[in-house]
Amino acid sequence: MLAQEDYRGIRQAHFEKGKSQQGAHMTAFHDLRDYIERLVGELGEGEVRIVEGANWDLEIGCLTELMAEREGPALLFDNIVGYPKGFRVMSNFMGTAARCAMALGISPNLSKVEIIRAWKDKSKQLTMIPPIEVASGPILENVLEGSAVDLTKFPAPKWHEHDGGRYIGTADLVITRDPDTGWVNMGTHRGCIQSKDRLSLWLLGDRHARMIASKYWKRGEACPIAVVFGCDPVLWTVGPTPAPVGVSEYDIAGALRGEPVEVLMAPGTGLPIPAHAEIVIEGEMPPIEEESAIEGPFGEWPGYYTHIGPETVIRVKRIMYRNDPIILGAPPMLPTTTPGYQALPLSSAVATWEHLESAGVPNIRGVWAFARNLMIVVSIEQRYEGQAMQALVASAGRRRIGGMERYFVVVDEDIDPSDLNQVLWAICTRVDPAESIQIMHTRTSDIDPRLSPKKRADKDFSMGIALIDACKPFAWKDQFAMSNRFDDAARAKVLERWKSKLPMLAETSK
Ligand SMILES: Cc1cc2nc3c(=O)[nH]c(=O)nc-3n(C[C@H](O)[C@H](O)[C@H](O)COP(=O)(O)O)c2cc1C
Repeated sequence: MLAQEDYRGIRQAHFEKGKSQQGAHMTAFHDLRDYIERLVGELGEGEVRIVEGANWDLEIGCLTELMAEREGPALLFDNIVGYPKGFRVMSNFMGTAARCAMALGISPNLSKVEIIRAWKDKSKQLTMIPPIEVASGPILENVLEGSAVDLTKFPAPKWHEHDGGRYIGTADLVITRDPDTGWVNMGTHRGCIQSKDRLSLWLLGDRHARMIASKYWKRGEACPIAVVFGCDPVLWTVGPTPAPVGVSEYDIAGALRGEPVEVLMAPGTGLPIPAHAEIVIEGEMPPIEEESAIEGPFGEWPGYYTHIGPETVIRVKRIMYRNDPIILGAPPMLPTTTPGYQALPLSSAVATWEHLESAGVPNIRGVWAFARNLMIVVSIEQRYEGQAMQALVASAGRRRIGGMERYFVVVDEDIDPSDLNQVLWAICTRVDPAESIQIMHTRTSDIDPRLSPKKRADKDFSMGIALIDACKPFAWKDQFAMSNRFDDAARAKVLERWKSKLPMLAETSK
């Protein structure tokens, strides 16, 4: 934890740095409400839409899906059917590239690939800033303990038609502390209300929260745990990032904010919780053999329902919430829909780009991930024979065991990797399927819908991946037929002359 004096020094240094960075935005949102205000203030009134009178039972979920498909405004639901005014839900909060960039302190006027590049550069220069402890904060405005604990007090949506319950935890932060080292970990894990004082969590086997919990369980103890439902977008972005063991996501959030996250020690568990969060619960998580609940099904990010089974539960001892609390919602949708909680493939595109650089692949023009990482596209300027294959192998090499990436595509520098139409054009015209596609065998995730029932029963997760070289063949690149698309300079010249008579061209042109 930091002392107040160190904090002031860091804040001043960051302020000076912020002033010197052209177009940089100060990202230190105090909280979710500050972010909402600044969305409206900086990007315009239309960025956040207040929706009154929607029902938590599927209506909020369906409206969120419809709006995310249209890359529409963030939605702030109030006066939810059956709940008092002020008990709110927010969704689609980072659903456009501009909102996403603004949330992370990057100029919203950059192109999508430039935002990824800026995020990559920013991530490289981070200096960790631990959280600062404060004595109190808005999160303590309301505290429910003992028999007053009631999770159903909040308008948790039933997001998809066949969900097994009401998921209050979709954009949540699960906080645990390693009993040996004191390391504080954060992760996002779906959380379903099982009863007034029970929340189930789905913690996959390799997740740090599960690893930490197991340490308590081995000692015959329940794991102290806190869960945040609603925080600022930087904290939210860092929460589900797989930071290495021993590195606290709080410190990374501090680095990104340029100032520490203000935390207070939760009264029961002593876990640090964000002082400006919207809703926080704390309690204990016993071993699954002692208590569990049927969790799922839940509409998952590949676009299907797959997982259901007995999972861990939290015995909720205390609920803390701000006046007029906001549940932050990140319900999964089809992977082809821009996810309303992060329009940009920040972690996967950046990690692939960094991996390519460290593998020595030169002249990378951009990296993008479509369909929630199921298709990775890399744009390069080819300088030598075999460079495209080098880029493909390196991108596939970043894939984690249990990842679900399926297609790796490399395109030339004239193709914008974030533009699906251009990528398709390259695949359909520069690929000879007999020569340019390599199939490799690897493993997939257990929520992959393409696993046959037999494979699933046998716990056989083998699956292929395809490496697609959609570049002009290097050997005769210069003889490849010329494109008949107007180039950027020609387009700009014509647009300049005609934009007053045909304004829609300027608004929609690329
Ligand atoms: C929206 C969203 C929902 C997620 N839901 C789950 C989940 O239900 N269970 C899970 O094990 N991981 C889930 N994850 C992935 C974890 O948050 C991620 O792997 C994180 O790095 C885990 O934290 P750790 O670094 O502490 O292991 C989700 C990620 C996101 C972005």
